[in-house]
Formats: sequence, C-alpha cells, structure tokens
Amino acid sequence: MNARLVVLASGTGTLLEALLDSSIGGQVVGLVSDQPESRVVHVAESRGIFTRCVSLGDYSSRESWESDLLAQVSELGPDLIIAAGFMRILSPQFVDQFPRQIINSHPSLLPLFPGAHAVRDTMAAGVKVTGCTVHFIDHGVDTGEIIAQQQVSVQPGESESELHERIKLIERRLLPRSIEQLIESHSGISNFGKGTK
Ligand code: GRF
Repeated sequence: MNARLVVLASGTGTLLEALLDSSIGGQVVGLVSDQPESRVVHVAESRGIFTRCVSLGDYSSRESWESDLLAQVSELGPDLIIAAGFMRILSPQFVDQFPRQIINSHPSLLPLFPGAHAVRDTMAAGVKVTGCTVHFIDHGVDTGEIIAQQQVSVQPGESESELHERIKLIERRLLPRSIEQLIESHSGISNFGKGTK
C-alpha cells in the first residue's frame, strides 16, 4: 500500500529529512507547519513537498486555527499523520477525526518526561538512561499508546543540546521503522486508508 503520509512539524526538520531519505512504503504528501520561517518548511519546499503554513497568530482565535489545521490536513487525505517536532497540542476534535492514525516522536522514554522540555527535565532528574518513544496521539500530552521505544544512555558532563542530538540520531531511525511497521500491519485494513484520495 502506498500510504499517504502527512507530517506536522515546527522545527529544524531533521526527522522529516530522515523520513524522506528512508524507504517506508508510504509517500509524504504534505507538510503542515505552524512556523513559516522554520527550517522544516525550507526542507519540505526544497524537496518538492507540498507545504501549508498555519500560524496561530494569523487567526482570530485558537478555535479557528484548530479548525483550519484540521481542514488543511484533511484536504491531504492522510492515511497516517506524523507529528515530527510539532510543538502544538492537537485538539480533541482533530484527534477524534483520525483514530489511531496520528503518531508522535518524543525525546524521552514515556511515560517519563512528557511535554515540551523532555530533555531538560530528563537532565534535571539526574537519570542515567533515557531514550525516545514513538506513540499514538490521544487527548493527553504524550500519553497515547506506545508503539516503539529505544534507550539512550546519558553521558557525564554533556549538555542538554548534546544529549538531545544523540537522542535525535536514534529518533531518525526509530520513527521511519515504526511507520514502516504500521503501514505493513495495516495493509488491507479498511479504516487505515479511509482518507485515501
Ligand atoms: C525531536 O526530538 C522530537 O522528538 C521533538 O522535536 C524534535 C524534532 O527534531 N518533538 P527536528 O526538528 O526534526 O530536528
């Protein structure tokens, strides 16, 4: 199945690059970002990926932003939506529209250290082992069912950004592998392709 993959991202886009560089049995049909100036937008455009930007500040309310985000993503007919460094919480309406079709990559071993500052919180706690998690998105913050995890040891004296970079090296392998497995396991299951155009 040539699954239609839609990526949500706000950051530097190295996870998007990893997806584009791997053969995952699916096609990235669009990037939706809330940060028009971010590197990820340049990555997508330079790789010929259809790109839409929805900046929260351009909308009169959070609700109108949420409803346009849902409209823009729905328009792309996704089989799977991948949050790859998307720094916004998805509304319950958005999540309910795509049951078990939205996944996220997070830089900690969930359920430990959810939220936007996972690596900082990891270091502050003084743990020696951390890692990354690919999980389904539900109504909570980083609380959805875990799909895959991999450990990374914390090195003495390293900075938050050094640790995050080493975790991201692992994320760039774990996320494509998880997507590939999801696509394989859903082949022939009707609701997975319900948005397929
Ligand atoms: C990753 O660590 C991801 O887990 C987190 O944001 C980072 C995205 O990295 N949510 P990049 O922007 O793809 O380089």
